[in-house]
Amino acid sequence: MNILGVSCYYHDAAAAILRDGQLIAAAEEERFSRSKHDFGFPKLSIKFCLEQAGITGKELDYVVFYEKPFLKLDRILSSVLQTYPYSYRLFRESMVGWVLDKLWVASTLQAELGIPRNRILFCEHHLSHAASAFFCSPFEESAVLTIDGVGEWLTAASGVGRGTSIQLDRQMQFPHSLGLLYSAFTAFLGFEVNEGEYKVMGMAPYGTPRYVDKVWKLAKLNDDGSFSLDMSYFSFQYSTTRMFNERFIELFGEPRRPNLPFFTEAMGFPPYFGEMPSDFAEQCKANEYHADIAASIQRVTEDILIHITSHLQRQTGQKKLCIAGGVGLNSVANSRILRESGFEEIFIQPAAGDSGAALGAILWGYHSVLGKPRSFQLEHAYWGQQFSQGEICSFLRDENIAHQQMASEDALLDQVVERLRQGKVIGWHQGRFEWGPRALGNRSILADPRNPKMKDIVNAKIKFREPYRPFAPSVAVESASRYFKLDRMVDHHPLRYMLYVVPVKEEHYETLPAITHVDGTARVQTVFKEANPLYYALISRFGEATGVPVVLNTSFNLRGEPIVTTPANAYSTFSRSEMDSLVLGNFLVDKDK
Ligand SMILES: [Fe+2]
Repeated sequence: MNILGVSCYYHDAAAAILRDGQLIAAAEEERFSRSKHDFGFPKLSIKFCLEQAGITGKELDYVVFYEKPFLKLDRILSSVLQTYPYSYRLFRESMVGWVLDKLWVASTLQAELGIPRNRILFCEHHLSHAASAFFCSPFEESAVLTIDGVGEWLTAASGVGRGTSIQLDRQMQFPHSLGLLYSAFTAFLGFEVNEGEYKVMGMAPYGTPRYVDKVWKLAKLNDDGSFSLDMSYFSFQYSTTRMFNERFIELFGEPRRPNLPFFTEAMGFPPYFGEMPSDFAEQCKANEYHADIAASIQRVTEDILIHITSHLQRQTGQKKLCIAGGVGLNSVANSRILRESGFEEIFIQPAAGDSGAALGAILWGYHSVLGKPRSFQLEHAYWGQQFSQGEICSFLRDENIAHQQMASEDALLDQVVERLRQGKVIGWHQGRFEWGPRALGNRSILADPRNPKMKDIVNAKIKFREPYRPFAPSVAVESASRYFKLDRMVDHHPLRYMLYVVPVKEEHYETLPAITHVDGTARVQTVFKEANPLYYALISRFGEATGVPVVLNTSFNLRGEPIVTTPANAYSTFSRSEMDSLVLGNFLVDKDK
């Protein structure tokens, strides 16, 4: 039985395909269309999923869409009526979208795939999120929390999953949304909403949370484990262009201008920004204020999540928790939930945001609608497209690119380790690309984490990167506890997907300066041999050569572009940056040759 899942028309469009309960493929549309956060109908990811399964659209047994369009229309109409006439523009813009695409999604799916209407199912948005985590977790029973910007009506839902059913009996409704609160500050800090949230998280450790009292004027905790926003500070309920209003600005000051370079007095002026501005001290002051705001909203977000999750833990009595929805990508908050909520084990799948709901939709269809037993656990994130050595070789020959073909995996690893030790920055393109927003060793830029200058070197070579862009350590799982402070690192599933931020042991700050964040933490990826044998072998080989089985991993893309998909994307990124070497499968391309 083949089931296709689709999510689109809001944030990140994606498709995923399940055969007899086993995941075959899952990919976000932006990787194929090359349009960052592409939310349109995911024609190309659907095509990829069908090819990977070796079937045509007509051979699908079911297609499941990740939300219920009419419920969402109901929410938009209601919030428009409540806030009319401010909301006229939201109404007009939403209606254009709804009439053209969203309400007719069933017809589009029918036309594109050639399957009958009665084979198309619709799963509620938060249930899709919940299913995306619980049904591929190793848990037979657990609490489930979904939390995001907004789905149809809901902004958060929680309950318990047991076997093949999920009951979400507690819910929070628009406009009271933790995702939208965080996004309002993302916009205030000059970043793009739904894109710059990780930058707020990265900026926070450069500041002090000295404005939490002000942020708490916007939100309050309720005794039932929920929270509410004071809507008099926001405009997202009636505007498509502004998240917050004048009252918010009175409280926090003028918003930070977009694209301003970020530096503070403590970190100094990064050399890769060019010449130091004459008003350096003044800019530092402004940046420090904004870093304090980032630290404050991050702290309040975490406190709200601790409030929600501790309440959920007490109410359900469960020891395990599945988290999904965009807020689940806040790896700093996830680690605090692990430490403080009373839950002992957490599962989050790597595409925790809206794209991942395509996976949830199929799992819901298979288990909850069709009643099929569970037989699948997600152990890794490598569900995208891969390219054969033959395809890579043809590409390099057709484009006349000088390269070396390695005779064996051993030879390849030796060459790469040697370059890493020489301080070179390497584009690493291997196997199937990752599901979700993080590069986890198949579409990664790699470097030596022991070099204290490496952050600046990578930032200078990969142009225009902000200093709070994460440089994460990928560590062979058996060695993780040597460097990082967390018990039983092998058992924590979110570490496979860089979804926890953990303290680096003080005695290793000097061992791993390039991946230790300003507050002494790191967004660790534990690498398992079974999940990614080649990447594991590379890290181990680097460990044999240096005594430190850790590499610096950052995503293989330039600023504002999706992570690379094809060898051609990788080569183009390599050429437009100052990366030293590019590895495509068994082929090595050096820039200086
Ligand atoms: Fe969502």
